[in-house]
Amino acid sequence: MTPEEAFFTLHSDLLREGPGDEESLGWALAQARPPRDGRVLDAGCGPGADVEGLLAAVPEGQVVAVDQHRPYIDELAARLDVDARLLAVTGDMMQPEGMFDLIWCAGAIYHVGVTEALRRWRPHLKPGGRVAFSEIAWRVDNPPLEARDFWQSYPAMTDREGVLARVEAAGWRMLADRWLPEAGWAAYYEPLAARIAHLRAEALPALADVLTQAEAEISLWRRHGDSYGYLQVVAEPAA
Ligand SMILES: C[S@@+](CC[C@H](N)C(=O)[O-])C[C@H]1O[C@@H](n2cnc3c(N)ncnc32)[C@H](O)[C@@H]1O
Repeated sequence: MTPEEAFFTLHSDLLREGPGDEESLGWALAQARPPRDGRVLDAGCGPGADVEGLLAAVPEGQVVAVDQHRPYIDELAARLDVDARLLAVTGDMMQPEGMFDLIWCAGAIYHVGVTEALRRWRPHLKPGGRVAFSEIAWRVDNPPLEARDFWQSYPAMTDREGVLARVEAAGWRMLADRWLPEAGWAAYYEPLAARIAHLRAEALPALADVLTQAEAEISLWRRHGDSYGYLQVVAEPAA
């Protein structure tokens, strides 16, 4: 089993692939207020945990859910009735088709970077359109060494002011922001911990390594999760 196969063995059969929940989606929607007949892009949708909530927010509109990992799109299509209101696409979230009232990006913008993603999404926003994203960031000036060591895997990680600066560097302004509540982390980590336990007994070395890394991530959050968090941001072009 390759490291990539091991990664996706763990990261399959889960409803979500990053922290978040109904409440945190609701917060962002209350700030972004897409029209009832709006068009929404779920950029980096994973298996599509937020898709039903997005569909409910635009009852006369459309949701386009895009992820580059085909099995996630297949899982989403198998779980939800893919009708005219939901288009589930395997592809690049940075090259969506058409124009949107809201681009929702939960835990995926780090793949591209905040400034770059906002610049590239700008031509895909309808007048009055908004982007809502979540980005991991430091909550304290001096995080514990263990947390800093772990998050070296994301060298661009900054703090709230740093995220704000990246929004402004793109020529956008932040309309609202807040730290994702603990329940959103639990909604991701509790099913992930259960899946680790399920896979552990039979795991060969490549998978065992991936399980151990994921356990370390969860354990770090339980002990030092107050030093970092997901910043939820709602932003719009400044001009
Ligand atoms: C941490 S997961 C979050 C998934 C989902 N939003 C959620 O909250 O469950 C990040 C997702 O972004 C997807 N992704 C990363 N870069 C992408 C790109 N350029 N185009 C489409 N999907 C991308 C990955 O395949 C992965 O499913």
